[in-house]
Amino acid sequence: MYTLEEIDRILENCSKLRHIKQEPANLYEPLDYMMSIGGKRIRPKLCLLAYNLLSDDFRNPIVFPAMALEVFHEFTLIHDDIMDRSDTRRGCPTVYRKWNENVAILSGDAMSILAYKYLAYAPQTVLPSVLDLFSTTAMQVCEGQQYDMDFEEMPFITMEDYLEMIGLKTAVLLACSAKMGALIGGASKEVCNALYEFGYQLGIAFQITDDYLDTFGNEKVFGKKIGGDIMNNKKTWLLVESFRRADGPQKQQLKQLLQMDESRRDAKVEAVRNLYVELGVKEAAASEILSFHKKAVDALSAAGLEPGRTRVLAQFAEELIHREK
Ligand code: IPE
Ligand code: IPE
Ligand code: MG
Ligand code: MG
Ligand code: MG
Repeated sequence: MYTLEEIDRILENCSKLRHIKQEPANLYEPLDYMMSIGGKRIRPKLCLLAYNLLSDDFRNPIVFPAMALEVFHEFTLIHDDIMDRSDTRRGCPTVYRKWNENVAILSGDAMSILAYKYLAYAPQTVLPSVLDLFSTTAMQVCEGQQYDMDFEEMPFITMEDYLEMIGLKTAVLLACSAKMGALIGGASKEVCNALYEFGYQLGIAFQITDDYLDTFGNEKVFGKKIGGDIMNNKKTWLLVESFRRADGPQKQQLKQLLQMDESRRDAKVEAVRNLYVELGVKEAAASEILSFHKKAVDALSAAGLEPGRTRVLAQFAEELIHREK
């Protein structure tokens, strides 16, 4: 079995094998740019860690499908930044800001196709299941992204709506990553399903953490401009929980704050942030993250694997919820 550091090194090496053509530059340069400015690579890592529960043979049939997950994820980020009007990512200008929207749309499309090219390296015996899992997940991510955008325009959504939306836009891809590693490793159906559940619950914890950091994180470390969700009236965990806790006057105040536009950016971000603190949702978010982390760990225990083997995955999950970027 490999350690987390060894898995990082394997991924570092395969990031260099990109086989990307050079012309037309406006199609391929954004791909190279996106893949070279960093990122935590958690999805391929999760896939390799799950695979490593079953096998130590790290050659193309696992490494390329793992990279497919990263390439697909980066495609969603390029399009997401247009949709969310985000100027920075990973501490650098977003693709649509550095080039333009048309370039970002097409280079994003190219990345989603490249993901399928990498996926085709999966062993023939499991390729149909891998393709089915991946395509189903990719469609769910689109559904989640559409709900996320629709919710911007809605005055109020329930916590149930929120959890379904982040389940689709974020958690299913982590779930798919873990399950894909197990599938390619030849795991039983029970183990594959337990890993899917582990990835899903971890993904929910991961998105709530992302919401938290978008409001309370350190911009330099997080790499994205703080307050973007507040400005877009995103229905984040913080906002949804605030509506649950607010009394009449506080609800009124929140509704008024949501009306403020970009011309009053600093005032809006500060006032919403203060209200989150006042309502106790800043602290509550931290405990909600822990509770989904616990569900993830429980799902992993239910896989019936030896604790010695799942130790590295548990360590990965632990590090993920204490992240600052
Ligand atoms: C950002 O994903 C989008 C979310 C689902 C929250 P990551 O936080 O994994 O982004 P990178 O790849 O590390 O930049
Ligand atoms: C993005 O959610 C989820 C996907 C890209 C599918 P966010 O919009 O919260 O991600 P960030 O914060 O821009 O990374
Ligand atoms: Mg978004
Ligand atoms: Mg975004
Ligand atoms: Mg976010």
